[in-house]
Amino acid sequence: MIPEQVVIDDKSGLMTPNTGRYRKRLSELRGLFQDAQVLEAEIRAKGDPVVYEVIEYKKGGSDLFFGTTAILPGKVNAEYYMTRGHFHKRRDMGEVYYTRNGAGILLLESPDGETNVIEMRPGTCAFIAPNWAHRSINIGAESLVFVWVCSVDAGHDYGQILRTGMRKIVVEREGKVAVLDNPSMVP
Ligand code: F6R
Ligand code: ZN
Repeated sequence: MIPEQVVIDDKSGLMTPNTGRYRKRLSELRGLFQDAQVLEAEIRAKGDPVVYEVIEYKKGGSDLFFGTTAILPGKVNAEYYMTRGHFHKRRDMGEVYYTRNGAGILLLESPDGETNVIEMRPGTCAFIAPNWAHRSINIGAESLVFVWVCSVDAGHDYGQILRTGMRKIVVEREGKVAVLDNPSMVP
């Protein structure tokens, strides 16, 4: 393994070089948003738009890897575009999110249902403590771009959040960003 420089474009999240990337389109995020009917209408009207893209730099044998996530601006009804959200498989492993562009909310949830909200704007760095589920939400008019760094062993556990959602949702209400109780959360 040799050290290497990686160039990151803050506006788009493009990383050069990178070792992998994937996109999530609206049709792959069914069940995530409150309004399933509007989601289907948006898929038809906008040709299944990209919601977010993840680009990573991972080298075999290293303990760390890093990457970027770029969430496009958009909403499904009043609910802002967001990532799926996950715990790490290794609950003892945290992560760092360093925001480079746009405006967002990092929504965190502990296993006993405690919520924590961290503002994301260029220059802010979020410490995601171990054992907190995390989802990022783009509340602005530009792409929300952040750099993340974590252990290669951390892994993803999507199960619980895919099943039940998170306790809070982030929506536009009367022209403002509002963090509300999730009405469809099974208690
Ligand atoms: C990795 C991490 C990020 C997210 C990415 C997409 O541990 O937190 O790289 O994986 O922002 O979010 P999810 O994976 O929740 O769809
Ligand atoms: Zn993570």
